[in-house]
Amino acid sequence: MSARHALRKAISERFDEELRFLKGWVDKPKAVGAILPTSSVTARRMASVVNPASGLPVLELGPGTGVITRAILERGVAPENLYSIEYSEDFVRFLRRDYPGVNFIQGDAFDLDATLGAHKDLTFDSVVSGVPLLNFPTPRRIAYVEDILDRIPAGRPIVQLTYGPRSPVPPGGGNYEVKKLDFVIRNIPPTTLWIYSRPRHG
Ligand SMILES: C[S@@+](CC[C@H](N)C(=O)[O-])C[C@H]1O[C@@H](n2cnc3c(N)ncnc32)[C@H](O)[C@@H]1O
Repeated sequence: MSARHALRKAISERFDEELRFLKGWVDKPKAVGAILPTSSVTARRMASVVNPASGLPVLELGPGTGVITRAILERGVAPENLYSIEYSEDFVRFLRRDYPGVNFIQGDAFDLDATLGAHKDLTFDSVVSGVPLLNFPTPRRIAYVEDILDRIPAGRPIVQLTYGPRSPVPPGGGNYEVKKLDFVIRNIPPTTLWIYSRPRHG
């Protein structure tokens, strides 16, 4: 393939991703939560918390067009070791086409037992979440984090993307610690990444 052809293909794939995202936003603005896909800088920063050497599977919630999925795979996680839950049937169709071998499950990240089904007892290394938590009431956000933390070892992270200035899950709301991982300006809109984990002691 010539360099020019490769460039044209890369640009058209990127454009295709953005159009798909915009269509998702037009159909369900609250569920999609942003108007453009996550930037690759943000995606790589989120994926940096994953430890592929743990041998445990990784859980992704709200992959959308798959920018973060790609970063998790590039971090060294084998596709069959990645479980990824997306609510939108349209997104899931494209994700299965673009990332063969990844375990995409269409369903609700707020109801993980039902959505994971036969996989509900898995222990994951870490969880990467792009679900727009600010669109849900605070008690549901806390329940979301508590439920996920029961599925990963103490001390291991959930990394969550958000567009507000504060953690969408307040410190002191349950048995979890809150840390800011990063503020990424190279994202539209700029985003803050938060880490939630169970304390290692008691
Ligand atoms: C902000 S977007 C994620 C952006 C994604 N990183 C990208 O670049 O395409 C949020 C995604 O979470 C999905 N979502 C929203 N609520 C969900 C839920 N309850 N369960 C699973 N996925 C959900 C939306 O359909 C959307 O794809």
